[in-house]
Amino acid sequence: MKFKKNILCIGAGYVGGPSMAMIAYKCPDCRVTVVDINPARIDAWNSAELPVYEPGLDEIIKKTRSKNLFFAKDIENQIKENDIIFVSVNTPTKTFGAGAGKAADLQFLEKTARQILEHSQSPKIVIEKSTLPVKTALAMERILASAKGKITFEVLSNPEFMAEGTAMADLEKPDRVLIGSRETQSGLKARAELVDIYARWVPAEKIITSNIWSSELSKLVANAFLAQRVSSINSISALCEKTDADISEVARAVGMDSRVGSKFLKEGIGFGGSCFKKDILNLVYLCSYYGLQEVADYWESVVKINEYQQDRFTANILGSMFNTLAGKKICILGFSFKADTGDTRESPAIYITRKLLAEHAQVVISDPKALKNAAIDLASDKGKISYIEDPYSAASGCHALAILTDWELYRKLDFQKIYKSMVKPAFIFDGRNIIDHKKCFDIGFNVYPIGKPALSRFEDQSSV
Ligand code: NAD
Ligand code: UDX
Repeated sequence: MKFKKNILCIGAGYVGGPSMAMIAYKCPDCRVTVVDINPARIDAWNSAELPVYEPGLDEIIKKTRSKNLFFAKDIENQIKENDIIFVSVNTPTKTFGAGAGKAADLQFLEKTARQILEHSQSPKIVIEKSTLPVKTALAMERILASAKGKITFEVLSNPEFMAEGTAMADLEKPDRVLIGSRETQSGLKARAELVDIYARWVPAEKIITSNIWSSELSKLVANAFLAQRVSSINSISALCEKTDADISEVARAVGMDSRVGSKFLKEGIGFGGSCFKKDILNLVYLCSYYGLQEVADYWESVVKINEYQQDRFTANILGSMFNTLAGKKICILGFSFKADTGDTRESPAIYITRKLLAEHAQVVISDPKALKNAAIDLASDKGKISYIEDPYSAASGCHALAILTDWELYRKLDFQKIYKSMVKPAFIFDGRNIIDHKKCFDIGFNVYPIGKPALSRFEDQSSV
């Protein structure tokens, strides 16, 4: 079959795989190929066990794979054969040299640009799907413009706004699709071509276009605003704990103001995931780079509050359990950074587990999807941690439960049964405020929520 468009995506990760599966599903007359430098990832995409757990993804892959969606390893050949190339490689925080700890590490992006340049034999539209510092397209254009021949490249910015755990729904019904381009004749033509692809399933009013720098910057700012809401509510949760106010009641009252809105005001142990911290630090770096230190400090405080929230949570466990965790068994319920994903990148659970181990606690980790990743994250602590998927077996013989991920299954646990199997006095630290605290207290637990009065049989020990 001859396809109308040949689309390539470089980078078969959490974004590349699901977003290309959706394009293939919605555009059966387009051939979509996804490549990656990691051959094991491509094998996994071609197998029954996909490398990414995402509700609804399996079904879409089944409907498209080997029809108009292909996962391939021959990157050079694929660059030659495709006219539209999405770049969805990882852009982690730089760990070395200038800007280490804040700036984005663009080495993978640059390698990709050079590969595209080397293997292209016809004009291409190159689309930045990775999240990038504003002005990255300039570097991309300069590399691609160094071609000796007549091949032309048009660079577009099309940042991805999907969230993990809801990726397929977000991709199918996005709040908006953003496409940035140069405002030249060729830039606008390329932009129109990409608009045409999304217009197959996204209503026209939700496809917004802008200049390329606004598009790049909007992605960083969108993530910064979302993370800022989480840090804002978490900062107030600390004040609630001092004043007997209840954070859920405060969030409800504040969020019902239509100017504020109710979403992203859920208190917890802080945000995790591969994006928020990385993107805010990148924004902080950019602001400092342009001499805007006050702006940089403002955004950096969002990350600081996030770290503070995790410190507060572990300090509360220590204080409430009579200031010693040595030899005590603590069961961590949930290790992924949010529900409905196996992803543990920057999960608060990593930091909290390390803090508990530093107090010589024995840690048992339970999670329905993230145990494999948890064992990789904590490989250096091998032998000190048990991994048990079944929450009942994991909790048995423990002194405390710490709920770190908002998995639906934890709301429905039989806490009476769990209580019976635990060492007394038994504690619950609900880092996500998802269970019925009063019910658990009545069963016999000492219950410590976030931003609400503790339901405990003991005096507050935390200041001892
Ligand atoms: P990921 O690490 O899951 O995937 C990136 C893939 O790119 C990896 O499989 C890696 O092997 C591959 N890769 C790197 N260099 C390559 C090269 N030269 N050639 C071919 N393949 C190469 O990362 P991700 O979570 O998919 O994120 C990708 C980008 O999208 C990042 O910039 C991220 O900030 C952004 N983003 C992520 C999310 C998310 O929810 N994960 C959401 C929106 C945007
Ligand atoms: C985020 C952005 O939402 C998405 O638009 C972007 O494309 C990628 O980064 P993601 O990190 O996958 O998505 O998940 P998100 O739902 O934003 O949650 C991030 C973290 O914040 C999680 O750890 C989550 O538990 C936490 N969170 C979120 C809260 O603690 N409270 C909230 O109210 C919302």
